[in-house]
Amino acid sequence: LAVCLGNICRSPLAEVLLREQAKRMGLDSRFEFASAGTGDWHVGGCADPRTIATAARHGVDLTSHRASQITVRNWQSWDWFVAMDDNNYRDVLAMGVPKERLLLMRQFEAGSGQAVPDPYYGGADGFETVWQLLESNAVAVMQYLGDEYEKNHCSH
Ligand code: 4NP
Repeated sequence: LAVCLGNICRSPLAEVLLREQAKRMGLDSRFEFASAGTGDWHVGGCADPRTIATAARHGVDLTSHRASQITVRNWQSWDWFVAMDDNNYRDVLAMGVPKERLLLMRQFEAGSGQAVPDPYYGGADGFETVWQLLESNAVAVMQYLGDEYEKNHCSH
């Protein structure tokens, strides 16, 4: 589960790019991907038009995305949580999600601890920057999750 604040900008794109990376690594049958926001403002609504346009430029249709919220009552449906920034990370932790199952999207990047910047209040170019950041970081995140899967499932 990719997590941001509103589930209309960053985490819908993270969901797409983690899924695409899993496909590339042959891991897509082992994971399901979704996204949610810690806030409830946009629940049931569409992704931001700039999110949809950015995905479309990269050949992905996000028009059917509907925003959802992660809560203290529903997080148990998911095994792994990938937060976009420190605020998301803290909010998810406060819901009771075990730290061992919670990642930061950019934690494997050199100079780790950086946020995926919230593009909501900026211009359209911020969304392309977010796409590029998510695409490069999805590689290490899926590598980690693939390794964890191997550890926890006797697949050989
Ligand atoms: P996101 O961006 O967390 O990447 O989906 C935002 C979307 C909406 C708001 C803030 C951030 N908002 O305040 O409504």
